[in-house]
Amino acid sequence: MLDRLKEIEERALAQLKDSRRKEEVLRIKGSLLGKEGELTRIIRSIKDLPREKRAEVGREINLTKERIEEAIKAALETIEKEELKRRLKEAPVDITLPGRRLPLGSIHPVTQIIDEIVDIFHGLGFSVEGGPEVEEDYYNFEALNMPKDHPARDMQDTFYLEGDRLLRTHTSPVQIRVMERETPPLKVIAPGKAYRRDSDVSHTPMFHQVEGFMVDKGVSFSHLKGVLTTFLHAFFSPQTPVRFRPSFFPFTEPSAEVDIGCLICSGKGCRVCKGSGWLEVMGAGMIHPAVFRAVGYDPEEVTGFAFGMGVERLAMLRFQINDIRLFFENDIRFLSQF
Ligand code: DAH
Repeated sequence: MLDRLKEIEERALAQLKDSRRKEEVLRIKGSLLGKEGELTRIIRSIKDLPREKRAEVGREINLTKERIEEAIKAALETIEKEELKRRLKEAPVDITLPGRRLPLGSIHPVTQIIDEIVDIFHGLGFSVEGGPEVEEDYYNFEALNMPKDHPARDMQDTFYLEGDRLLRTHTSPVQIRVMERETPPLKVIAPGKAYRRDSDVSHTPMFHQVEGFMVDKGVSFSHLKGVLTTFLHAFFSPQTPVRFRPSFFPFTEPSAEVDIGCLICSGKGCRVCKGSGWLEVMGAGMIHPAVFRAVGYDPEEVTGFAFGMGVERLAMLRFQINDIRLFFENDIRFLSQF
């Protein structure tokens, strides 16, 4: 019996060594270890041996079986490796070739300008807030001192939605939402989208604004002038002339519009500044007492200033672009220049 085992093992190992195909190895495996395999039958015949021989023979059979199983495993692995080598040779992969380059996008010019504005105000201690673009009439108009019949509502061609909802026409409602929620002192900047029914070379139905405001005890118009001048000098250049011109907004009193010296003609007067030498860049003013009352602040206790600027307009001035619609046509030839 032991001789037979030895003979089987030697034959199996020799056969496995010569095998070059998986099927061959599996056939050898079946002929030895399958249901009617040679080794299987020997295992089954142990019970016919004399009792005292069983243990010794059994142990030998097990060892033989283990060695054969190992050889089968090794043979299969070798065949798999050879197969992989062969396939790589057939269809060579040159790992030294450069990879395929996917075209990279760039930051949209409007986003770049927003990031810059936010950075500058961040440096002045302002924090960033946001609010919904689908807004309630109350926040967009009413609380900003524009009751239902107020003529100033007509200045903003509003997209009205169902109920008392609308697409916000400016970012000023963020002032109300933040002040309702928090208590002074506040220094906040709020970039975001605004919507108006308007479309030409300088207007798109969707555009971006950056709102800002500061509220505390004793905030004055000189704080407004100081902060906005600092901002404009940082954004354009320290030499840029800045002026504050009286104006009107329902939510500020007094109100101002802020101009910078024309970047195109340096103040001499040209087509861009319509001969005036100045370019309007934002609206601003001292927050109206009615606005403070709407959010539950006492206008005898606190004062504040607010301002709002159009991002596309600033981007057009910065990059000398004369048609706002270019920002939203998604023409790669335009966008990749920034
Ligand atoms: N909300 C105004 C607009 O969209 C801009 C503005 C003007 C905002 C004066 C302000 C402000 O906060 O004080 O035309």
